[in-house]
Amino acid sequence: MPRESIDLLITGAAEVATARGSTALAGDELGTVGVLEGAAVAIRGETLLEIGPEAELVERYEASEVLDAEGGTVLPGFVDAHTHPVFDGTREEEFVLRLQGARYAEIAAAGGGILSTVRGVRSASREQLLVLLLERLDRFLELGTTTVEAKSGYGLTTEDELKCLEVLAEAARLHPVEVVPTFLGAHDVPEEHRGAPERYVDMVVQEMLPRVAEAGLARYCDVFTEQHTFGLEATRRIARAAQELGLGVRLHADQLTPLGGARLAAELGAATADHLEHVDEAGMEAMREAGVQPVLCPLVPLFLREPQEAPGRALVSRGLAPALATDFNPGSCYLQSLPEVASWAALRYGFTPAEALTAVTLNAAASLDLGARLGTLEPGKQADVVVTDLPNAQHLAYELARSPVRAVVKRGRVVHARGPRPNWR
Ligand code: NIG
Ligand code: FE
Repeated sequence: MPRESIDLLITGAAEVATARGSTALAGDELGTVGVLEGAAVAIRGETLLEIGPEAELVERYEASEVLDAEGGTVLPGFVDAHTHPVFDGTREEEFVLRLQGARYAEIAAAGGGILSTVRGVRSASREQLLVLLLERLDRFLELGTTTVEAKSGYGLTTEDELKCLEVLAEAARLHPVEVVPTFLGAHDVPEEHRGAPERYVDMVVQEMLPRVAEAGLARYCDVFTEQHTFGLEATRRIARAAQELGLGVRLHADQLTPLGGARLAAELGAATADHLEHVDEAGMEAMREAGVQPVLCPLVPLFLREPQEAPGRALVSRGLAPALATDFNPGSCYLQSLPEVASWAALRYGFTPAEALTAVTLNAAASLDLGARLGTLEPGKQADVVVTDLPNAQHLAYELARSPVRAVVKRGRVVHARGPRPNWR
């Protein structure tokens, strides 16, 4: 029988490990990951065609390209559900201040923090921001991330927020990493509005949001809901306005103080409530009832040296469906690696490697309303695949620091392959 032609066949895998389905896995189901030993993956065009025993697939298909996993584990492309990647300039001096005992909120109150990155972004050209962003997307790809949610939020004027979102749109056109843009004009109250913060909220609602929505530059709207930035009332007003314009809502909720952001996310029917270091019982219950997904960023309290961590395990036992994210940004977490996040979710929350895998793939995709197309390795889904050198999927969380990624496939195309070893031998 003539063999059917396909574009790409992934062979040589120790195992293919993936969650299944198109909706987020919650509670006890979170760690339901299927492991197929010795399976191959057949891809046609942008789509995953079949996963099955290698010998059968090799016999059935004639592939234009074969990608050898060399005994590694094959996983779905990682999805980072919370990042702030559009910025110019880093903030290592604040890192050092925190090592000496300063708190994040104190540094912000003294004019550092988000506002110091705002100064950098306002004075940066589009070209500069684009070059920096493309480099960061390269790094995401090398680490196995094939889709990122990416926020604006360091412009804080209408023109500078539009500039950041346009740079994101341009990067998305040029780069294989898929970008889901979020408008975060309510990240902080900029210097020039500190005397009358309500006027800044007016500007976000009346000027920024309509322009962003009209230009189709964002799919979500986020608010940094904290007493020192935007309280519950301001957050509610901004989020409702965003929803009326057709945007989904994600909130930075209960990150530094227990303000009630999780409950507000539930009231709003937000897609996600993120961080949640200070969420209480009522907040968790409200989220569960309203189907709000937690997006947990386990490296952030460590990086900020804040004592309180999110109750990762409690959220799962109460039946929620968490995604895990880096929160990549220059202030509170200068990290792009989801494998590292998986390890820390295991070590700090007690997530099993399988639970962490679901949280950086299917659950993260579902939090962006992309679960039907992304997040698992199943026939009919988009072929976003990470070929690792890991002997099994548990090593994803077990091994620290090193990138396990050997090759990355995005939309059916091999878009990254690790370079050769150092040549000393
Ligand atoms: O997610 N909390 C607000 N936003 C970021 C921090 C941004 C910054 O410090 O530049 C966060 O932690
Ligand atoms: Fe954040």
